Amino acid sequence: MIIEPRVRGFICLTSHPKGCEQNVINQIEYVKSKGKIEGAKKVLVIGASTGFGLASRITSAFGSDAATIGVFFDKPSSPGRPGSPGYYNTAAFEKHAHAEGLYAKSINGDAFSNEIKTQTINLIKEDLGQIDLVIYSLASPVRTHPETGKRFKSVLKPIGEVFSNKTVDFHTGKVSEVTINPAEGDDVENTVTVMGGEDWKMWMDALKEADALSEGATTIAYSYIGPEVTKPVYRNGTIGAAKDHLEATAFTITDHLKSIGGKAYVSVNKALVTQASSAIPVIPLYISLLYKTMKEKGIHEGCIEQIQRLYSERLFDGDLALDDKGRIRIDDWEMREDVQAEVVKLWETASTENLPEIGDLEGYSNDFYNLFGFKVDGVNYDAEVDEMVEIPSEA
Ligand code: NAI
Repeated sequence: MIIEPRVRGFICLTSHPKGCEQNVINQIEYVKSKGKIEGAKKVLVIGASTGFGLASRITSAFGSDAATIGVFFDKPSSPGRPGSPGYYNTAAFEKHAHAEGLYAKSINGDAFSNEIKTQTINLIKEDLGQIDLVIYSLASPVRTHPETGKRFKSVLKPIGEVFSNKTVDFHTGKVSEVTINPAEGDDVENTVTVMGGEDWKMWMDALKEADALSEGATTIAYSYIGPEVTKPVYRNGTIGAAKDHLEATAFTITDHLKSIGGKAYVSVNKALVTQASSAIPVIPLYISLLYKTMKEKGIHEGCIEQIQRLYSERLFDGDLALDDKGRIRIDDWEMREDVQAEVVKLWETASTENLPEIGDLEGYSNDFYNLFGFKVDGVNYDAEVDEMVEIPSEA
């Protein structure tokens, strides 16, 4: 079939298998171009199919020749209906990993459930024995709690007061004022239940219990801080409360891993266009100004550049360079004073009229389409493509 983008707000209902594959190939090529990393050899990535998790899987496999198991929640293709991008990404990842003789298997299902944890642990025990590195990169709006069966929804709201600021519709370029009412009822607790550290700890407890972690195993989860302009709705909002919980959980997990000398860390990453971040109001305007500024300074990075640098210059370099809260900071270039000062200056004047000039709306929009395998260089979108792609380890 010919697959075209069908965009609804911040989601695209279709995705392109060839475009997704090309994205994966580009990331593999990037990692290879940077040379080998003396890193972990047996890696479990939870949230492995898109964004930072996919970049982590690619960096482990093609940077360190690691065997990888990826867990994610994606929609397979069916006749006439493309699968979700993470499905196509994983199919492409496995194909290219297997071609180089690398072990790669995948588990598609709800990572929050006990069943998927058990299935993953069984696979580890059968094939790899133990895991050296666990990347926890889930981004989900909902979580069904495995103990109670209760379904929790996360919300993106400020806490305590109404938040008003500028935002942009990145499809039309229209800058407008957005007002978001503060969290009420159980909003904060629910968001913490979905995006906080409880599930991360459950995974690590289950893996340790099953003796599926090697001596000195490490686990990393990803967090975000960001600038002053997004603070009320992000870091000081409901999602920030979840990130606080996630960051605190790193210490609890490290405690629990003491007997095997294991460690848990949070890495604070840079703001990037992913399916998760395009859903957050205000962030698209910030990202378009940030992209413009960082590109002009020659320090722009995507997920793969971020994770390649995280591995090669922090995790496996011997110096994690932790901040005063014990976090790895790979958002260091985003948070540079000159970068933030420039973004603040641009933010003040940003309008529908001047955004095409002062912001990188085109970069934002392109990255958004790229997430779904569209507008990727080198892909012929007029050609018929087989939407029925299988993930090799699932076939
Ligand atoms: P993403 O949406 O690209 O990836 C999320 C991954 O989680 C996908 O592989 C998806 O299949 C998987 N997933 C979601 N629900 C699942 C479930 N129930 N079971 C199994 N897998 C499930 O998100 P992104 O942006 O890469 O986010 C990953 C982490 O990085 C999050 O913790 C996010 O807060 C953090 N982060 C994101 C930043 C950004 O700007 N995008 C910046 C800094 C941190």
